[in-house]
Amino acid sequence: MDLTTFMQDSEHKQKVERIFSKGVRMIYQDALKSLVSDIELIDLLATMETVPEEITTEFLQCLKKQPEIIEAAPKLPGGMSPLKEYNEWEPVTPKSFLSFFLSRYKTVSQILWRRPQLKNAVSIAQTSRIRGREELAIIGMVRDIHDTHNNKRILTVEDLSGSTRVIVPSTLVEKGEIVTDEVIGIRGQAGRDIFFANSVIFPEIPQVQWPSAERPRALFVSDLHVGSKKFIEPVWDNVVSWLKEHKDVKYLFVAGDLVDGVGVYQNQNKSLEIETIEGQMESLAKYLKQLRSGLKIFVISGNHDPNRDSEPQPALPAEIAKPLKNICDLEIHSNPSWIDVEGITVLMYHGTSLDSIIDAIEPIRNKAYHDPCLGQMHLLKKRHLSPIFGRNKVFPDKEDFMVINKVPHVLHTGHVHKIGIGKYRGVRLLSSGTFQDTTDFQEKLGHEPSPGHFIVMELSNGVAKPIDFSRLQ
Ligand SMILES: [Fe+2]
Ligand SMILES: [Fe+2]
Repeated sequence: MDLTTFMQDSEHKQKVERIFSKGVRMIYQDALKSLVSDIELIDLLATMETVPEEITTEFLQCLKKQPEIIEAAPKLPGGMSPLKEYNEWEPVTPKSFLSFFLSRYKTVSQILWRRPQLKNAVSIAQTSRIRGREELAIIGMVRDIHDTHNNKRILTVEDLSGSTRVIVPSTLVEKGEIVTDEVIGIRGQAGRDIFFANSVIFPEIPQVQWPSAERPRALFVSDLHVGSKKFIEPVWDNVVSWLKEHKDVKYLFVAGDLVDGVGVYQNQNKSLEIETIEGQMESLAKYLKQLRSGLKIFVISGNHDPNRDSEPQPALPAEIAKPLKNICDLEIHSNPSWIDVEGITVLMYHGTSLDSIIDAIEPIRNKAYHDPCLGQMHLLKKRHLSPIFGRNKVFPDKEDFMVINKVPHVLHTGHVHKIGIGKYRGVRLLSSGTFQDTTDFQEKLGHEPSPGHFIVMELSNGVAKPIDFSRLQ
């Protein structure tokens, strides 16, 4: 059927008019052909609450496929796949704590075994048999840390064979650099029921090379906090318009706190513009639908989102994420997630544990809320996204999903609402700002968030630049 014949049918005409009344400015010729030959597509468009300004064939194809919310770890088309995605969720039993810590110990100790200084590491039980001047190496999990008045640190370290106290001179590591529950290597001499450390070896990451190739750009944002009275709509509008003007930006990464949530902290309702989760999710969907079609969007949850409050967080439950269901090119993943985009691995993590890491490590305590890359660096060094168990909520699964066993090219976090761009051993460190204006609580803590500040990256070479979307006209 040609367009003229199609429009002669009054019912068809009405539907097309309804689509244009939703703000459509242009329908590309190919897309128009598909619409005329497929009345189902017209019906779908006519029933959608918001539609893009420009209708393309890709958008229609995507609409027809009715993308499902990704809950497992399927292979995705177009060379993209979640390399590692969390989808376990079993009840906690005393046994799960044991297997959780065993899994952490085994995975991180395997990384440590590969370090030349630890190749000949012995078990803690063996150290009591080889006491003396010989330098030994052990690998263990830190159970306990005490600082003495004479500038020494006493750790209790355990492995599968037993435990020992370890005396660490304060000159070896910065104060707070070793944290409880992390797995480290130690070289030193064994005494009776004690080990004298000469050096401490963190799991560390190897030097990472950026695989150069022709690739598009990507925008990294986070912390929308839709539903909060402090959500800055003009910043969102600027991001939407900027992405429409910059079509070479093909990917958008959103690192959690999509909505402000309900009951996240005491008296939160006073700061809420939208007081229900359903309302906030509907509003989030409305904003996401404004984004240019053809833009691939990856989102994960944060501690404000309606997901379980302990990490790792699975992808948003399908029932809650229902309003997001028909958004083209949107992928909803777990927090954390390892995403492969055209050969670049992006580790997306909301960053809740940054609070505890920044607080524990004294030399960065007063700096890292201004430069979050300092906290990110320690997570990579410890090869763990949430090393201190119990400081932020972590779910004790059979396997510790928070271990960084795959080293990414990019580590992207949010949560602290402060922009940061850095590099550690070749890994690009990105901390995006927020769409939420500074809260009274943040002001009280002396934090200086970066509303409207996000990061655009050339995926060809890893060069990242900040953009202040609060100043764009
Ligand atoms: Fe946030
Ligand atoms: Fe957060």
